[in-house]
Amino acid sequence: MVPVEDDTIDAGIFAQLGLSILDPGYLATAVCRSSISYIDGDKGILRYRGYNIEDLAEHSTFLEVAYLLIFGDLPTREQLQTWNTRIMRHTFIHENLVDYLRSFRYDAHPMGMVTSALSAMSTFHPEASTALHGEAIYEDETMVNKQIFRCLGKVPTLAACAYRHRIGRPYNSPSNELGYTENFLYMLDRLSESNYLPNAKLARALDVIFILHADHELNCSTAAMRQMTSTGVDPFICLSGAAAALYGPSHGGANEAALKMLEEIGTVDNIAAFIEDVKNKKRKLMGFGHRVYKSYDPRAKILKKISEEVFAIMGRNHLIDVAVELERIALSDEYFIKRNLYPNVDFYSGIIYKAMGFPTDFFPVLFGIARTSGWLAHWHEQLQEPIPIFRPKQAYDGAAARKYVNIDDRVAPETSPLDLERKYLLRKKLPPLKSEH
Ligand SMILES: CC(C)(COP(=O)(O)OP(=O)(O)OC[C@H]1O[C@@H](n2cnc3c(N)ncnc32)[C@H](O)[C@@H]1OP(=O)(O)O)[C@@H](O)C(=O)NCCC(=O)NCCS
Repeated sequence: MVPVEDDTIDAGIFAQLGLSILDPGYLATAVCRSSISYIDGDKGILRYRGYNIEDLAEHSTFLEVAYLLIFGDLPTREQLQTWNTRIMRHTFIHENLVDYLRSFRYDAHPMGMVTSALSAMSTFHPEASTALHGEAIYEDETMVNKQIFRCLGKVPTLAACAYRHRIGRPYNSPSNELGYTENFLYMLDRLSESNYLPNAKLARALDVIFILHADHELNCSTAAMRQMTSTGVDPFICLSGAAAALYGPSHGGANEAALKMLEEIGTVDNIAAFIEDVKNKKRKLMGFGHRVYKSYDPRAKILKKISEEVFAIMGRNHLIDVAVELERIALSDEYFIKRNLYPNVDFYSGIIYKAMGFPTDFFPVLFGIARTSGWLAHWHEQLQEPIPIFRPKQAYDGAAARKYVNIDDRVAPETSPLDLERKYLLRKKLPPLKSEH
């Protein structure tokens, strides 16, 4: 008899039998307990700490939601004020870190810059380094909170520097009297105006988008965050690892793929032919389908509404007509109905970002700013409920033990991985490597 608790069984039972569970990609493995976010994929429900995402998107600010994710409850007015003030006081980055960012090539991918700068932050705050001071420093809540303020405060500044770098404009210093997302837009767009203020409605739209992307249980980057946390390394390095996982096109880049697809379809007239290609398995409908949601992704519904608000300010992008019609046709088609394929968060976010003027390679950075709050919530939870260092098992299926062969006795296989190298040199008309003369 095996007890079932929270829809899980204790894998230790398999260990007692001398067995492991082979589960590539963790499709059926829970690696921790967590009380941060809850998803019911069949019903299309997403909750942070028990609150429906729809309510949070309508009534809260992103920083309020970050507080909720990290500390478990919505803040009182006074708590929220202290929280906002503390975070906005940590928006400045060290001038040497600014120099480091300036040293990147003019066309550096902003995600590469942010990921590297997060790692570098570890060297700018040595008092927060567990390598130097031991893991016990994080038994002190003040120390934990200080790093949370720093990370939430500085990530938008790093992102804005990466953005300004690409367009060859001087970096803007943060403006701490503004709201969190307003200040981010200010750092992106201010030129020489002494009293520049971003559009308040666009700032609110982006703030809500940040709420929608703040946490999503153990997605790949959050799992990376927890894996790194289990080693005891400092939070800057953990965030850098999580951001690196988010950089992958299968994770942080799907909205870019959805946008490219809509651009390729171009007009409403081309939708029918595209849908036929999808049904014939020649194409995938990007921004549709989800590993967890088998009904409408609740975040996509909110984004659809936000897209109209953004277009009212920025002008209507014709791609929204393509998206809405594509969605209408797909949702009434047997192929998609039978497979429970609905729009996901990436279907509308790319068009909104484009309408707001963000370059496509900046999309994952925007995702990363929002997800920093979720990553930190998991870091905080894991500090309070430590789990052993992550050390997954493998199922070894390599060679059996074999006798060492001296180099002169080795027989070359018919094809070698390095043949490609030789072909490359021939194609480029380059001389063979020295050893081959
Ligand atoms: C997200 C995704 C990987 C989830 O995959 P999954 O849960 O493993 O679903 P499966 O790959 O098992 O697909 C089930 C069926 O639906 C089809 N399907 C899934 N997503 C599809 C899509 N976007 N377009 C067309 N068909 C799709 C599959 O071909 C499969 O059909 P079959 O039963 O005839 O073989 C997948 O839906 C996808 O690639 N979507 C597009 C990319 C995207 O938007 N990613 C962002 C996710 S937030």
